Amino acid sequence: MARKDLLELASLTREEIDRILEQAVPFKELFTRSVKKVPALKGKSVLMLFYEPSTRTHSSFEVAAKRLSADVTNFDVPHSSVVKGESVRETVETLQAMRTDYIVVRHGRSGLPGMIARQTKASVVNAGDGAHAHPTQGLLDAFTVKEVFPEMSGKRVLIVGDILHSRVARSTSSVLRRLGVEVAYLGPGSLVPKCCPEGVRRFTDYREAMAWGPDVVYLLRVQMERQDVQYFPSLREYHRVYGVTRDRLDELEDKGIWLMHPGPVNRGVELCDEAMDYQRSLINRQVENGIAVRMSVLYSLKPGASGDEEAEGEAEASLE
Ligand code: CP
Repeated sequence: MARKDLLELASLTREEIDRILEQAVPFKELFTRSVKKVPALKGKSVLMLFYEPSTRTHSSFEVAAKRLSADVTNFDVPHSSVVKGESVRETVETLQAMRTDYIVVRHGRSGLPGMIARQTKASVVNAGDGAHAHPTQGLLDAFTVKEVFPEMSGKRVLIVGDILHSRVARSTSSVLRRLGVEVAYLGPGSLVPKCCPEGVRRFTDYREAMAWGPDVVYLLRVQMERQDVQYFPSLREYHRVYGVTRDRLDELEDKGIWLMHPGPVNRGVELCDEAMDYQRSLINRQVENGIAVRMSVLYSLKPGASGDEEAEGEAEASLE
């Protein structure tokens, strides 16, 4: 059965994940053509509803929707009636009246895209909600790892940094594990949950983690905006203990290890300047792949009725 929304990855079947990733391949091939558009969503409308800042996800979804020939409207939160106190429910009701087909939403509150999804017939795509999920980031990361290692099973990805506050760590590790990739977390004890998901290794020491033998080191952005208390002594200390320093970059190069980061990079914190030019960096490829994967996601979803009136009522109440 066709899926209406994409809110997180846990509810996707393996077949759905495989289909989204496979479908993204021809969409990516489109980028090399002089005409980079297909008419797949001609006549459909996509609304971008971003309550939090974004560079990559926002522009990537916008380009993806336009390459599918959809009409795109950007809901400009800072210049909307949200600043006059309009609730999310009122906003969504207003937008629903415009009969949009897809809503791409980013919000600081975990679970809010799901509430919107139950209130509207439009397909809702979660573009990142609080520390909960960032499903298209997980899918584009999986697509990128698969390009480098077509046989992903048994490959090792070390995710480094602020695991506790990271929706990227949650979504990316979830989809990689579903695809047979071994995942480990590394970071300060204060930022790596004691109870990692089953099968995920936990490290707090960089050398021990590197001895585990990762094929990919995936640095997370240090999210100062989500830390209500100080979790490590200083950014300089964080870089020294967990960042890819010049010396560690040499180690990655010697061992042929690939480097990933979801962006935006805090230079001098997660990565030294030289890491931006590292030949096995996949950071720019993640951005390019994000468009193809988001095209595939939009193409896969089917806007329509949710049919769950009770859930719609609960959702409306919680959006007040
Ligand atoms: N990776 C990511 O979500 O980046 P943005 O915050 O720029 O969208």
